[in-house]
Amino acid sequence: MRVMVIGRGGREHAILWALQRSPKISKLYCAPGNGGISRIAECVPIEENDFEGISGFALREQIDLVFVAPDDPLSAGLVDHLEAANIRAYGPRKNAAEIEGSKVFTKRLLKKYNIPTAAYESFDNYDEALAYLRTQELPIVIKADGLAAGKGVIVAQSRLEAEKALHDIMIDQVFGKSGNQVVIEEFLQGQEMSLLAFVDGDVVRPMVPSQDHKPVFDGDQGPNTGGMGTYSPVPHIPASVVEEAWETIVKPTAKAMVQEGRPFRGVLFAGLMLTEEGPKTIEFNARFGDPETQVVLPRLQTDLLEIILASLEGRLDEIEIHWSEEAAVCVILASEGYPGSYPKGLPIEGLEEVTDSLVFHAGTAIRDGQPVTNGGRVLGVVGLGRDIAEARAKAYADADKIRFQGKHYRTDIAKKALV
Ligand code: AMP
Ligand code: GLY
Repeated sequence: MRVMVIGRGGREHAILWALQRSPKISKLYCAPGNGGISRIAECVPIEENDFEGISGFALREQIDLVFVAPDDPLSAGLVDHLEAANIRAYGPRKNAAEIEGSKVFTKRLLKKYNIPTAAYESFDNYDEALAYLRTQELPIVIKADGLAAGKGVIVAQSRLEAEKALHDIMIDQVFGKSGNQVVIEEFLQGQEMSLLAFVDGDVVRPMVPSQDHKPVFDGDQGPNTGGMGTYSPVPHIPASVVEEAWETIVKPTAKAMVQEGRPFRGVLFAGLMLTEEGPKTIEFNARFGDPETQVVLPRLQTDLLEIILASLEGRLDEIEIHWSEEAAVCVILASEGYPGSYPKGLPIEGLEEVTDSLVFHAGTAIRDGQPVTNGGRVLGVVGLGRDIAEARAKAYADADKIRFQGKHYRTDIAKKALV
């Protein structure tokens, strides 16, 4: 089979790395890809939102399957577009991707079906939103309705911060149309956990749980990023809590989407807060997480392509899916200044000295045969071991061998899990 993955980050590198192990695959493509991906797949210079470019290429090159990985093209309906052109595509259709594309939609869905989440109100009018905000206790969470590259959520500790966030989103439109509506919601306290599942309608096949680290600095300080590191499993979280989250949140949500006439097919990702009252939904994503994928897929023992094919052929409930007992820890190496502005094009050295870990490229390019930085998150170094301690030690030992100017990483990834 000839398979093409859409996207350009560490998540896509990990997906392609998993796919290349499938004996059924004859050729892998990625649009547009990155420096690391170009070593395992043919990168084609087509942007993720160029639907005609993607379908034209897929028809011309006789691509058997297109895997749409990022949120933007999923929300914009790339899977619907490909299906209309008779191209087999994996990922939710536009009406199901709305579970990530609109927070107002998802909050209403969760409320309607009694699925645990933070209490909230939504607004399309600034004055009403402001009046409501002034009645709420601190901290308080303000969310732009639509996609905002992971930056549309502000956890405000002060009134000033909360009102500024509302003004930024609704009046200054810093996230464009994504801020036409806002969700103002209760602050939830607890540990976060990411649950990813292969879903087809009401069939939910759980992946192994993981945990992300969103703030840029150690000790969860500083602004939120796309994710500075992940680990799996989560040994400090009781299995009964994970089970409760599957039963009370993810499975009922998949069912609710079927009942709403928006059956979800693809990877469904629940971002959860483990509160004293039990797990509650923070958000749903309609795709693999980044960098969750980098620690989840290395633990998948079953052929990823076979799982996708089973899903597309309506037999996801039948396929056996196996996971390794190993632990995985991913440390993200970021550019200086990220998540603000950062330089690009800086030479990366030491990659060949990495012996024990997997290195997934996130923001890299190849210039004159040499890897250079090309994004905020540059590389994800993934250590694998018998337990979190061993995986973590390997990831950090190899992270230290890689050098580029201004390299920044958190030193406390997975520290919480060292029980
Ligand atoms: P999201 O983009 O929706 O995943 O939100 C980004 C981050 O904001 C989450 O990973 C949480 O750390 C935080 N967050 C979102 N909603 C809440 C909430 N209701 N209470 C506390 N923290 C939240
Ligand atoms: N790591 C969180 C996300 O992919 O949205």
